[in-house]
Parts: sequence; structure tokens; C-alpha cells
Amino acid sequence: MRTPLVIGNWKMNGTLASAPALASGVRVAAAQFAGVETAVCPPFLHLAAVHAAVADGPVALGVQNICDFAPGAYTGEIAAEMLADFGVRFVLVGHSERRALFGDTDARVLAKCRRAHAAGLTTVLCVGETLSERQEGRTETVIAGQIDALLEASDALSLLENLVIAYEPVWAIGTGETATPEQAQAVHHFIRTRLAGLSPVIANAMRVLYGGSVKPGNAAELFGMPDIDGGLIGGAALKAEDFIAICGAARARLASF
Ligand code: 13P
Repeated sequence: MRTPLVIGNWKMNGTLASAPALASGVRVAAAQFAGVETAVCPPFLHLAAVHAAVADGPVALGVQNICDFAPGAYTGEIAAEMLADFGVRFVLVGHSERRALFGDTDARVLAKCRRAHAAGLTTVLCVGETLSERQEGRTETVIAGQIDALLEASDALSLLENLVIAYEPVWAIGTGETATPEQAQAVHHFIRTRLAGLSPVIANAMRVLYGGSVKPGNAAELFGMPDIDGGLIGGAALKAEDFIAICGAARARLASF
């Protein structure tokens, strides 16, 4: 049984007061979810306050992005090594918002995976198709391309050691329209099969999360599918009680498999 994992991606939200308050709310409840890993990814500006709020507790610290270069003269950027030094455990790489708006190509995504791996961080590699790609029947081709950019790298086996994949259909992100459990399961199974082409052992151990309008009302159904090992949560991660309810649904998964 793979350990269920629920990660909150707070995106560009929060204030000096609200960020640690939200983190504390999650931390207090997380003790109920033994066997489930949880993490929160605040904006960089609030990382220190959230770090203090979750310190020495069960909720891990994550970030939404890293620089694809080693420390040096890169104005405005934050290096993987700095995050590891800070106690960060997870880093989101290749989120669709970064791919669409901030120039994260497959090549840059691979470079970021390498930086994160070298610093000992766990990469959460995000993949997903747009609505038009799905409507054109290209979902598997798109996902395969995004995954293969990593699998075809000469150092793929070592990069996969410390990696989680998040399937986030772009049409489901922030839209309130969730993939059905069957739609999500089909893609998760496809991803696992693709990984098995390189290593069946790694494919079996890899956690594949679903993201895209996960809410307390649909999480249990999604996490009830055999290849959905947890969630990457956006909007619902901004309310402690909703995020906690979703963690509860992941806990229920433990009992069903
Ligand atoms: P929503 O849960 O708001 O749809 O966002 C999902 C997401 O992009 C998480 O990374």
C-alpha cells in the first residue's frame, strides 16, 4: 500500500496573518490522519511564518516552484539548496499555470527536477491536458509527452527515486469541474503503465495524485480508485476545515486497500 499524500497548493493567496493561521489549523487536525502524509505549499513570502506554525509536527512544508539553476546571480529566484536548508520537503514542478504563463517548458521542468533531486527535495511533477486536447482525443499523447520528457533522460531512474506525479487536467483546475473518478483513474493507470516501461518496481511504488477541483464532497470517490494515491488541492486548501476533510477522505483510502 502506497502512503496516501495530500498537498495543499495555496497558489498566490494569503496574508501575514492568514497564512500561519491556516497552517496552524491544518496542523492541529493532522494528528487524526495517522498513515496519511500531508503538506502545505504557501507562497515564498509566507514560508517562514508557515514553517514556524508547522515545525516539529506532522504537516510537511512544500513550495510551488524552484529555480532551474544552482545558487548564483539569478535575480528574483530561489534555489533548491536554499529550500532544503530551510526545511522544505516538497516542491511542485511543472504546474499547468507555470507551463502556460511562466515559460516552464518540458526542458525547464526537467532541469528543475534535477535541481530538486540534487538538493534532496521530493519533486511533485505536475502533468495534465487542456480541454481542447481532451476533446481532440489527445489526452494520452499529451500526458505521455510530459512524462517521457523525464523518462527519456539519462538520469531518469535516479530522478524517479524521490518523485511524486500529480495528474491535474487543466480544464478541472479552479473550474469546479472535476474529472470523474473513472476519467482520473484511466489517466492514473496510463501514467503507471508508462512508468512500468522503465521500471515496474518504481511504477508500483510511485504515488500519483489527482488535482483539479477536489472538494470534501468528491474526494472520497476519487481516492477510492486504485491508482489515485491522494490529491493536490488548490481552492479547497485555503479553508482548513475543507483541507482537513479531504485528508480524512485519504485516511479512509487506507482502510479500503
Ligand atoms: P483547484 O483545486 O483550485 O482546482 O486547483 C488545483 C490545483 O491546481 C492544485 O495544484
